[in-house]
Amino acid sequence: MRSTAMKSLSFALLFACATSLPQPARAASPEPVKAEHGMVVTAQHLASDIGVEVLKKGGNAVDAAVAVGYALAVVYPTAGNIGGGGFMTIRFKDGKTTFLDFRERAPLAATKTMYQDDKGELVKGLSTNGYLAVGVPGPVAGFEFARSRYGTRPLKELIGPAIKLAREGFALEQGDVDSFDGRTERLAKDPAAAAIFLKPGGKPFAVGDRLVQADLAASLASIAEKGPDAFYKGAIADQIVKASAEKGGILSKRDFEQYAVRELEPVKCNYRGYDIVSSPPPSSGGVIICEILNILEGYPLSYLGYGSAETVHAMVEAMRHAYVDRNTALGDPDFVENPVAKLVDKAYAKEIRDKIDPFKAGLSEALMPEGFGESKETTHYSIIDDEGNAVAVTYTLNGSFGAGVVAPGTGILLNNEMDDFTAKPGAPNLYGLVQGEANAIAPGKTPLSSMSPTIISRDGKPFMVIGSPGGARIITITLEAILNVIDHGMNIQEAVDAPRLHHQWLPDKVFMEPYALSPDTRKLLSAMGHDVQIDESWTIWGQATGILVGGESLSEIEAGGGARYNGGVDSRIGAGAARGY
Ligand code: GLY
Repeated sequence: MRSTAMKSLSFALLFACATSLPQPARAASPEPVKAEHGMVVTAQHLASDIGVEVLKKGGNAVDAAVAVGYALAVVYPTAGNIGGGGFMTIRFKDGKTTFLDFRERAPLAATKTMYQDDKGELVKGLSTNGYLAVGVPGPVAGFEFARSRYGTRPLKELIGPAIKLAREGFALEQGDVDSFDGRTERLAKDPAAAAIFLKPGGKPFAVGDRLVQADLAASLASIAEKGPDAFYKGAIADQIVKASAEKGGILSKRDFEQYAVRELEPVKCNYRGYDIVSSPPPSSGGVIICEILNILEGYPLSYLGYGSAETVHAMVEAMRHAYVDRNTALGDPDFVENPVAKLVDKAYAKEIRDKIDPFKAGLSEALMPEGFGESKETTHYSIIDDEGNAVAVTYTLNGSFGAGVVAPGTGILLNNEMDDFTAKPGAPNLYGLVQGEANAIAPGKTPLSSMSPTIISRDGKPFMVIGSPGGARIITITLEAILNVIDHGMNIQEAVDAPRLHHQWLPDKVFMEPYALSPDTRKLLSAMGHDVQIDESWTIWGQATGILVGGESLSEIEAGGGARYNGGVDSRIGAGAARGY
């Protein structure tokens, strides 16, 4: 009797498993935030509130993106800042798409070997700290380009809330204080940065303290009054150039005067019926996401399962091959010929798949092209409005608090984006990326980025808005959120929260977030030849922000739909929020 019951229970279980494959994963994540008219997901809750207010008052997603961009410059100084650079991917309600590049450009006095000594050795810290690390900033020009072409609201209205927050200050919460963590010593080195971002006596801020930024409020007010000329042709540029000259930098007024935004065709590809639109060069992001997705399309990831050794092996091998291309073939499109068509071609993906041994790890060293001798601190936000216009923005200072310098009187933190160039072929940068000639430094050139603001549609309708910070890992973080939704059935919150993996060709290691893989899976991967290492430095794993349209997960959408807009802010971000209305 007992054994008959056991038998039928086992059969029932087996039957249930067999008929319900593939099951969506159910991770222990909070519920996504749901709304019917608009959604804004950013790394700081006050910025999300400001974005939603713009939408509620009838502004479109581009208006909200501009307001959020300025707000993050005040409330998320570790990354969001007008002294950095970034990208905006837009998908309009009619399905048309565009891409704005407002990333930093190298100063006109920059040279290929400016970070090397006379023996050709890299000088530590030169490309990451202080004024020599600073590229010409782009966000003020970029936001205005977006607003004047595609927005509907006056600049003053969109920048107003940021000015108020800077002038009156805001109370720091735990998530805000966390983003300052470990930066005291660096900020203390620059008196202008210390005066703003440290308390008197050089102490770090604590929960409940108020961050007031009077100089930044004045800079923002002059931009609101005079437009981008206040930044690129007026007193702000003068102050930055003066500080740069006094402290060993090479920025000139001409660098600012000739800064221009580029409007580019986004990179496009199709993955299992979903249309992906993402960042083209000077970002590697969209190209490499497409290349990896094309390779992975040949594997039944959904059937193999999230986190299984077979799935991880396929992902790692796809990443290994794609990062060779990233690090050797891509650069600023005004300076190098980028083989984008080849890299996003499905036939090329098949060629790569044919080289992947299903049972054995590849060897990165063996993929070294002949003659080949990055925060962490970036931020991404995702927005969609009532009409279905979707905007994905990723912008950055590069490292946390950028170069760690503020030009006196401006309140504006400056980037250390020059470190994203190849300072010396074959030598790793801040993110361990080993890059080549295509990304060598040249005057006016833009360093190769990994930023991947991405919008996905299906059957002509918006499906997902996604992106993340994370340096070289931005690509794999964004990719994994996409796979988690499309292949593994996770809801948008689970998809951005799930533990992550990363491989970037060199070093030849599979990095895993704590708990990403079981000990059994790690053993299987080791037996295949993979060197799997746990990376506990949590900030390096990025903080994705995403929106899913029509339901919180694919299964809900396919079952007839849930809420129109579903927002997920990465639980790794202490201060972030998804807000809708
Ligand atoms: N600074 C990081 C990136 O643009 O990839």
